[in-house]
Amino acid sequence: MQIENFCSINGEEYRLQPFTLVIFGGAGDLSQRKLLPAMYHLFATGHIAEDFRIIGYGIPEMSSEEYRNFVEGALKKFQVDGYNEETVKKFREKLFYVSGGLEESKMYRKIYELYCETSKDKGKYQVIFYLAIPPYFASQVISNIGQLEFCSGGTVKKVIMEKPFGVDTESAKKLNIEVGKVFQENEIYRIDHYLGKETVQNILFFRFGNSIFEPLWNRNYIEHIQITVAESIGIEHRGAFYEKAGVVRDIIQNHMMQLIALVAMEPPVQFEADYIRDEKVKVFKTVKEMNFEYISENLVRGQYGPGNIKGENVLGYQEEKGVSASSSTPTFIAGKIHIDNWRWSGIPFYIRSGKRMARKVTEIYIHFKTPPLKLFGDECGDIEPNGLILSIQPEEKISMTLNLKYPGTKNTPYPVEMQFDYKSVTGGVKLDAYERLIIDCLKGDLTLFARQDGIEAMWKIVDPINSYWEKHDSHPEFPNYFSGSWGPQKAFDLIEKEGRKWRFSDES
Ligand code: BG6
Repeated sequence: MQIENFCSINGEEYRLQPFTLVIFGGAGDLSQRKLLPAMYHLFATGHIAEDFRIIGYGIPEMSSEEYRNFVEGALKKFQVDGYNEETVKKFREKLFYVSGGLEESKMYRKIYELYCETSKDKGKYQVIFYLAIPPYFASQVISNIGQLEFCSGGTVKKVIMEKPFGVDTESAKKLNIEVGKVFQENEIYRIDHYLGKETVQNILFFRFGNSIFEPLWNRNYIEHIQITVAESIGIEHRGAFYEKAGVVRDIIQNHMMQLIALVAMEPPVQFEADYIRDEKVKVFKTVKEMNFEYISENLVRGQYGPGNIKGENVLGYQEEKGVSASSSTPTFIAGKIHIDNWRWSGIPFYIRSGKRMARKVTEIYIHFKTPPLKLFGDECGDIEPNGLILSIQPEEKISMTLNLKYPGTKNTPYPVEMQFDYKSVTGGVKLDAYERLIIDCLKGDLTLFARQDGIEAMWKIVDPINSYWEKHDSHPEFPNYFSGSWGPQKAFDLIEKEGRKWRFSDES
């Protein structure tokens, strides 16, 4: 329930200058599922200026008219919010397409010509290049963009780069140098859509907007932390990409690291992009280095086999399109990491992420220490430790488990849950993560985007995991978990040998 007498919150208006969005990978999976629906929804809800264009750039050959049909099909297929024939008709007029290979420099000139044609006499435009393509193509695209007149004269230019940014520390450094030749740091938006989720942003509000939790938020009161990013979907149509990425590059180096940073960081000097990013980088730099011995003992990998999810039989990873029948790419990871700083020394952060798990859930679980004396609890076993659960998705809530007295003469402790549900209290999330981040980019707000040093520091943490796993072929043991389960047995052994339990298991 919201407290009464709080100031009234008015609807937000985003007054944004006209722009052209050029999407590399404009016909790809991300564009169809997320980017184009996000743009449509921003348009349909009146959040962006009428005056904008989208130029899709992709390999499939299509005319602009065919692209409009293609986008309309994607909006229908992915059931965009607010689909309406009239609005779709207007949205179609904003769409243009150029087809070509990413290496063909003459095609970039076409983009420029199209931009000039569509923005003629329109005053000052900003142009945003969105790289929705695998990381190994990024520097080629950037250097081609750098040849065009966009990058001279008065155009305001920005680039949004999808994760993963590079494939390891070395490649990320090189890519940062390449991008830096064409764009200034404040024009580079390294996107991680998890940071656009309201419930992820709420982690900092919850921690630093309430004085009652901060004194407990450290090694003195917290026993361990669990972070789960579980998906029930498989790799869908992204076999070729995923084979090279695997779970570490796809989720751990970015989404998981951002969640860890938000939970573990110190309060920023002010709520501003660079101050927040400074604190995150400090967390990344204090994550204890993982050598091969540590990895073999404290991290577990997995790959899904066939199974059943919500009554539907699904294929194993090695049977998916674009995947090798002897693939050793991990689709699951569970492990323990340590943050070696004053606040967190000695406190394990257990992480778990996988595809084709029993259900979709992203959650942060803070497990507090049990009270020092066992005053109660003989009747029904031990007293339950307090737990704080930050549910990121699909449930959007915060809950806390507490112990009360069960009525009667027996002094029996009774665990209860106190919860705050985002939807019922605030009316729910207003903007999808991509919508929020696109708006921030248009406004020039970098708070929710990663900085160069942060990206490199995140790679430095995960590089040894990839190197160790790449050196020690796992194929003979893969697949090692059923689709629809909570991962391989070894993941359970890992935490149970330390006397702890995952919050989700095959029985739950
Ligand atoms: C993307 C990954 O970054 O995040 C996908 O590349 C994954 O593999 C997706 O499915 C998950 O996003 P969300 O918002 O559904 O948790």
